[in-house]
Amino acid sequence: MTKSNSRESQYAIDPLFLDRWSPRAFTGEVIDESVLLTILDAAHWAPSSANQQPWRFVYALNGSEDWSKFVDLLVESNQEWAKNASALIYVVSRSFNGDFSEGRKSYTHSFDAGTAWGYLALQARLSGFYAHGMGGIKHEEIHKAFSIPESYRVEAGVAVGRLADKSVLSERNQEREVPSQRKSLSEVAFRGKFIAN
Ligand SMILES: Cc1cc2nc3c(=O)[nH]c(=O)nc-3n(C[C@H](O)[C@H](O)[C@H](O)COP(=O)(O)O)c2cc1C
Repeated sequence: MTKSNSRESQYAIDPLFLDRWSPRAFTGEVIDESVLLTILDAAHWAPSSANQQPWRFVYALNGSEDWSKFVDLLVESNQEWAKNASALIYVVSRSFNGDFSEGRKSYTHSFDAGTAWGYLALQARLSGFYAHGMGGIKHEEIHKAFSIPESYRVEAGVAVGRLADKSVLSERNQEREVPSQRKSLSEVAFRGKFIAN
């Protein structure tokens, strides 16, 4: 078992997996673009089906002229705290393999992009930052704002920032500012059978 912050794994995993969590209290400090690109570099070394690398990342840095445009594309409840991140990223995936004209729809583009987001979150931690995924984004508006074709899927947003004291948050979010727990492994890992639960 491994223990870190308020978490404890059943087996001896690397503490990095427990140390990654999704805080909302961010300092709003400026991030060097090379640090963000380090995080995205790690993300794009994720494995993908037939090495199609379907992930795409559209990003803005806090303090840059496009920051408010990126913040506005989050749902309001996420804007409230994510505006204090150092970077915002929209993760997009390409839903066709190879040449669009061949029309080969990918089965795994979202799965692959999800792996890349996982790598992103772990590298963020290794770089001294935290990454917080967000499904609460304005998908259609993001398509329009960046002229993203329908053959790409807008997957999720990610806020990357440095941890601040939780007093920067609303009362409701202060209560939620704690590393979450997990189901027991036996509820999700089944030897030789499937259990619907
Ligand atoms: C794809 C995805 C979408 C999420 N959407 C939101 C969101 O819109 N707003 C939010 O505050 N947290 C969001 N979260 C954070 C999850 O609630 C969080 O990851 C989960 O509770 C597990 O907690 P942990 O990341 O701290 O381990 C999202 C996470 C993921 C991976």
